[in-house]
Amino acid sequence: MKKTSLLTALLLAASWAFAGEGMWIPMLLQYNEKEMQEMGMRITADDIYSLNHSSLKDAIVLFGGGCTGEIVSDYGLLLTNHHCGYDHIQKHSSVEHDYLTNGFWAMDRSQELPCPGLSVIFLREMRDVTQKVLYNVNDDMEEKERQRLINDNIKRIIAEVEKDTPYKVSIKPYFLGNEYYLLLNEEYTDVRLVGCPPSNIGKFGGDTDNWVWPRHTGDFSIFRVYADKNGRPADYSADNVPYKPAKHLDISLKGAEEGDFAFVFGYPARTSEYLPAIAVNQEANVIDPIAVDLRGKILDIYNRYQEQDRKVRIQYASKHAGLGNGWKKWMGVTEGINHFHGVEKKRFYEESFQQWALGARNRYLYIDLLKQFDQKYKELEPYRVAYTYLSNAGLNIEIIDFAGNFNRLAQVTADTPQEEVDRMIASLRQASNEFFKDYYQPIDEEVARTMLTEYLKHQPADFRPGFLNEINNVSQYVEHLFAKSIFASQEKVNDLLDNFKPNKIKKLQKDPALQAYQSMMNFYRDEVNPQMSAINTDLARLQRLYMKGQMLMEPEKRFSPDANFTLRVTYGKVEGFKPQDGKNYRHFTTLEGIMEKENPDIYDYVVEPKLKQLYNRKDYGRYADKDGTMHVAFTASVHTTGGNSGSPILNADGQLLGLNFDRCWEGTMSDLVYDPDICRNISVDIRYVLFIIDKFAGATNLINEMTIIEN
Ligand code: ARG
Ligand code: GLU
Repeated sequence: MKKTSLLTALLLAASWAFAGEGMWIPMLLQYNEKEMQEMGMRITADDIYSLNHSSLKDAIVLFGGGCTGEIVSDYGLLLTNHHCGYDHIQKHSSVEHDYLTNGFWAMDRSQELPCPGLSVIFLREMRDVTQKVLYNVNDDMEEKERQRLINDNIKRIIAEVEKDTPYKVSIKPYFLGNEYYLLLNEEYTDVRLVGCPPSNIGKFGGDTDNWVWPRHTGDFSIFRVYADKNGRPADYSADNVPYKPAKHLDISLKGAEEGDFAFVFGYPARTSEYLPAIAVNQEANVIDPIAVDLRGKILDIYNRYQEQDRKVRIQYASKHAGLGNGWKKWMGVTEGINHFHGVEKKRFYEESFQQWALGARNRYLYIDLLKQFDQKYKELEPYRVAYTYLSNAGLNIEIIDFAGNFNRLAQVTADTPQEEVDRMIASLRQASNEFFKDYYQPIDEEVARTMLTEYLKHQPADFRPGFLNEINNVSQYVEHLFAKSIFASQEKVNDLLDNFKPNKIKKLQKDPALQAYQSMMNFYRDEVNPQMSAINTDLARLQRLYMKGQMLMEPEKRFSPDANFTLRVTYGKVEGFKPQDGKNYRHFTTLEGIMEKENPDIYDYVVEPKLKQLYNRKDYGRYADKDGTMHVAFTASVHTTGGNSGSPILNADGQLLGLNFDRCWEGTMSDLVYDPDICRNISVDIRYVLFIIDKFAGATNLINEMTIIEN
C-alpha cells in the first residue's frame, strides 16, 4: 500500500475537510451547491431535494431496511443490488425454479413475484427540529435527566406532527446529539421481484473478489413497487397498481470519464468520523485485529473442508460470506489507518483543539474532554475485547449458538400456556431444519477446539464466561460436548420436538451446549453489558461536547454528520487510485476482465455461455462504451458505507451512471477517517446492467419503460 509520509499526512490534516469526504443532509444541500458545481455539477441543490416540486429524492428509497433502491420508471420499476435482493430471490428459488443459479425475468407484470416482508420507504420531507427537541435542555444537566427531557420533547413533537400528516413521523439525532431532524416517511409493502441475473453475473467473483478492485460483478436486481389505486401504500393485493413516482431517474448511456463529477444518493448506515484518536486506535489496533484473527482461523477451517467436498462447499458458502465480509473489511481498516497515519492525524488535530479549548468561552466544558476520552476508552477496552471474544470465538461455535434457540423452551413451566409452547416448537422445528441442512459436524468440532483454545489463551479468567473456567482440557471438553449434547444430532432434536413434555426440561437444562450458551449470556448480562453501557453513556456525552466544540472552533467549516441510516448525498469524482508503489488502478473494468478471470472449475469465476457468446460477437449494441468495449464496473472517490449498497451513482446532470455496491478494501477506514487518495467506492456500470437486461435476458419490456438518454 502507498505510504504517505507522516509530515505530509499532518499537513493534510491541517485542512481536515477533504473534497470527497462527507455525507450531506439533502435538505441542507444548498450549502454544498457551489462546491458541487465547481466540481462539475450542472444541476442545482433544488433539483436534488425540494419540497416545492418533484426532485431526485422522490426516486430514492430505503430498500428492505438495509440497502438503497431507486425508481427508474413511471411504473414503480426499482433497481438495487443483487446482494440486496438476494434473500427474496432465494425465497422464490427451489430445485425446479432455481432463480439464484439461472436468474429470473418477468416478461410481463403478471409474472412478477410478490415478496412478503419486503418494503421500501420514501422520504417525503425533512425538518430541522433541533430547538424544539433541545427545549429546556442544557450541557450542565445530569445525562439521564437530559435524555428524559429530550425523549419527552420528541414524543410531544411527533404527536403534534402526526395529527396533520398521513406519513410516518420520526426524529433522529445528527452530529452526535447536537442537532435533531424530523423525517416524514412513507412505506410501501407491496414490492415484487421483477428480474435478476444468474449468480454467475450478479455475484460474479463472489467472496473471492468481495471488497476488491478490479471487480466484475453485475450486482443488480429489479423490483417493482405497487400501490393502491390512489397511489398510497397497501399490502399485497392483485388489485394493486404500479406505483407512480413524482420522479424517476433518467439513465445515461454516456458512461463516465476519469475526473468527472459524480454523486451518490442513498442510505449510509453508520460512520464515526469524529472519534478521538484513542478510539480510532482502539478500533483499528485492538478490536479489529482480534476479530480478524479469530475469523481468519475459522475461515481457514471452512476453506480446508470446503475444498474437499462439494456439498460442504455449498453448505458453508453463506456462512463463509458472512464471516468473510467483516474479516476482509476490518483488515482493510487496520492497514489503512496505520499506513495513512489516521491516529497521528487525529492527535495532531486534537492538539489544536486543546489549544482552542484553553481559550473557549465555556472552557470548563471542553478543557478536559480529551483526557476524559482517554480514561473512558481505557476503561472500555477490556469490555469491548470481552465482547469481541464472546461474539467471535464463543458464538461462532455453531452447536452452542444453535442450542441458544432452545433457551426459552428450557424455561417452560407448568404455567406456560400450551399455545405458546406449540408456537415455540413449530418455530424451533423450522430453525432446526435450516440448521442441520447446512451443518457439518467435523467443521464445528474443529472450530470449537480452535476457538476455545484461543479464548482461554487470550482472555483472563474474570473476563470470560464461567463454563470456560471449568475446562481443564479443551479436546476432552469438545469431545464431551459433541458426544453428550443432543444438538449434534438432528434425530435427537426432532425427538425432543416431536415428544416434548415438561418433564424433558430437566434434561434439556443439563445439555452441555445449552449450558455453554447460558454461561455466555449470563456473562454478557452480568459482567459485560452493564459496565459497557455505563461507560458508553459517559462517552456519548463526551462525544457530543467534542463535536460541539469542533463546530465552535471552526465556525466557517461545513461539517457533515455521521451516517445514521437516513438519506444523504455524497459526492466526488470518477477516478482510479494508487494502492501501492508501482500499482496504478484504472477507474473501470470491462467484459474482457470477466473472460480473463474465467475458470470453469472455480465457482466464483464460471462464465455464463450466453454471456460468452455475446462477448465473442461483441454484440453490445448501444451499451458499448465509445472505446468499443463493454464497461462493467467503475470506481469513484465518493464517500460511502454499508447501506449505500444499491444507491444510484449519478452524473453532473443527475442521470444514472451505475449502482454503488462496494468499496475497495484498502480504503475501508473511511468509516473512521476518510482519505481522498485511497478511499474508493465501486459501482456497476448502468450500461452493463442494461446490456444484461436487454441482450442477455431479452427483457426489452423493462428497457422500454425506462428513460434512456443516449448522448
Ligand atoms: N462488501 C459488500 C458489503 O459490504 C458486499 C457484500 C456482498 N457480496 C459478497 N460477495 N459477499 O456489504
Ligand atoms: N456492500 C455494502 C452494502 O451492502 C456497501 C459497501 C460498503 O460498506 O461501502 O451496503
